[in-house]
Amino acid sequence: MSAELKTSDSSKSEGSDGPRKVYIETFGCQMNIADTELMHGVLHDAGYTQADHADKADVVLLNTCAIREKAEERIYGRASQLLRYKYENPNLVIGITGCMAEHLKGSIGERAPYVDVVAGPDAYRRLPSLLEQAGDGDPIIDVRLDKRETYEGLPPSRREGVSGWVTIQRGCDKFCTFCIVPFVRGRERGASPREVLRQVRDLAAMGYREVNLLGQTVNSYRYEDVDFADLLRLVTTVEGIDRVRYTSPYPVDFTPKLIQTLAEQDKVCNSLHLPLQSGSNRVLSAMKRGYTVEDFLRITDDLRAAIPDIAISTDIIVGFPGETEEEMQATLDVVERVGFDYAYMFAYSEREGTFASKRMPDTLSEPEKKARLQRLITLQKSISKAKYAAHVGETHTVLVEGPGRRGPERWMGRTEGYKLALFEPPDQVAPGDFVDVVIETATDHTLYGRAVAHRPRVNAAKA
Ligand code: 5AD
Repeated sequence: MSAELKTSDSSKSEGSDGPRKVYIETFGCQMNIADTELMHGVLHDAGYTQADHADKADVVLLNTCAIREKAEERIYGRASQLLRYKYENPNLVIGITGCMAEHLKGSIGERAPYVDVVAGPDAYRRLPSLLEQAGDGDPIIDVRLDKRETYEGLPPSRREGVSGWVTIQRGCDKFCTFCIVPFVRGRERGASPREVLRQVRDLAAMGYREVNLLGQTVNSYRYEDVDFADLLRLVTTVEGIDRVRYTSPYPVDFTPKLIQTLAEQDKVCNSLHLPLQSGSNRVLSAMKRGYTVEDFLRITDDLRAAIPDIAISTDIIVGFPGETEEEMQATLDVVERVGFDYAYMFAYSEREGTFASKRMPDTLSEPEKKARLQRLITLQKSISKAKYAAHVGETHTVLVEGPGRRGPERWMGRTEGYKLALFEPPDQVAPGDFVDVVIETATDHTLYGRAVAHRPRVNAAKA
């Protein structure tokens, strides 16, 4: 099928000034970053090249997020800014792809009539033909979900960076009552181990030394008789890959076998992003998370017993419908008890179509949610500060990303626990190298130190 698209589309993707240029802007999670790479791959095969800025492009796609209302508002704002490029270039095609496209479908055209294409997360193979049809009035809409689509066989065009994303699972079957993901990404499906290994080997051949396996509930991965622990073992056998990450696991899908595998496999980073969401059993049950606080604590205790230096981060929602002051306090208590290294914290945002939006009125005022969020952030900040400070004096291996934002005196990279480290670079340092950094100081979100050892990337294919 991709060969067919290639031949039929490459001619039409040639404009009068050569190949058409596409610019894709990504919003939201890592899976969207991976999907953007996938779309670039599909469009490359169809004869498109990448533009380095929206004003140089013939096609601008916003690859979107729908997780909270704010995300969608921000994207509408950005889409309206693109209008000015359309005044300059009336042939410019503007597309909205991904989760917001799936969520809002045709209504995007009512609010943003200048949008030419609306394509959901399972429509990317058809992107070239959708773009070809665009521009004659009504937007072209393709929001068909396909419970078998894993994009097997497509070569993603990799972005800059030192960590390669591999989507091993698409969709979600959990149906937490607050969450829009199952509605916009469809049912859970795993990519075949053969396809995952093909992508990991390709990344290794390109010079990547780290891969990050992605899925909405990544540890529920299954393909025929291969489960997530089996897949992790397979991935660690790929030559050239020194670090394996995965995100995001779901608490109840941690089996003893998986915990043992994580403990045994040195290449799997001792780093875990485990969404808690709430510290109240009533709220967890209303969210249909399928675990209690006690279950969550048991899982984190088991993981810490098996992997003592594991860094644990989390996601938390405050202001879920009906959340009382006591329930909010319970969340603060659990956050303190677990001691997360860092956390992503959100105010509840009602999402149309979810169970909560139908049955659980959004009772808390926005100022009240904000105030609760602030209390949580303040507490987490103090915990992070202590967690980061505890690394001072230690030596951490850092995968080098490049110069820091404030200039070349300090370079940056991530520790195994996914903490950002800034360090004085050794001579000849390059992105993709490993350096051992002695941590000298820390804030609540960054480690600072000095590189004492340097292992340049062996395979420099990507340099
Ligand atoms: N409101 C607020 N936060 C949400 N999340 C998911 N859905 C919502 C919502 N409706 C948060 C959860 C999830 C993270 C990716 O986003 O904490 O883990």
